[in-house]
Amino acid sequence: MTKFITFEGVDGAGKSTHLAWFADALRCRGMDVIVTREPGGTKLGEQLREMVLNQSMSIGAEAMLMFAARLEHVEQVIQPALQSGKWVISDRFSDASFAYQGSGRGMDWEKLKQLEQWVELQPDLTLFFDVPVEVARQRLSNNVSLDRFEQEQGEFFERVRAGYHRRVAENPQRFVVIDAAQTLDAVKLQLAAIIEAI
Ligand code: TMP
Repeated sequence: MTKFITFEGVDGAGKSTHLAWFADALRCRGMDVIVTREPGGTKLGEQLREMVLNQSMSIGAEAMLMFAARLEHVEQVIQPALQSGKWVISDRFSDASFAYQGSGRGMDWEKLKQLEQWVELQPDLTLFFDVPVEVARQRLSNNVSLDRFEQEQGEFFERVRAGYHRRVAENPQRFVVIDAAQTLDAVKLQLAAIIEAI
């Protein structure tokens, strides 16, 4: 049964805008839903988020901090919620580490797979909000302050997007690709169809 759902996409794809609506739509159908995010979701995770988004560090340290935050998140929040019958929607999860630290920063995919083994848990369903990088950059241009990732150049995000496509190809059974270049209403229609299906 689908209970652990993750939202993924390059910065500016618009996934966070749709997440609250998606969670409410599930609640209207009687599901008990919690919404959480990565990096973050726990006290330690939020402290690590503050660090990785703002402080420069080696690629390996960045990847390990992402997974350290994830392990804490899974153990403290996600698993207990799933075990008590709740649905969990997370704004990003392990796929982001493959896309950003793997493809974006060039960290060895196999090393990331080793870190992923610590986490064990996989989402039942992942919605990948796919959008051309120039559209995502345009959407981000209204933000007043940009974090360490958002400040990266277009080529970085092209690699991140390609990394997501690689994850989709490697895990076709759990991914649904959303065309996020469309209008908000058109994206909502795509999400409504997914909600009906699950
Ligand atoms: P957010 O802006 O969607 O909240 O995500 C924060 C940033 O962290 C975003 O630029 C992507 C990045 N990130 C990684 O680089 N690796 C990861 O594993 C996760 C979860 C996020």
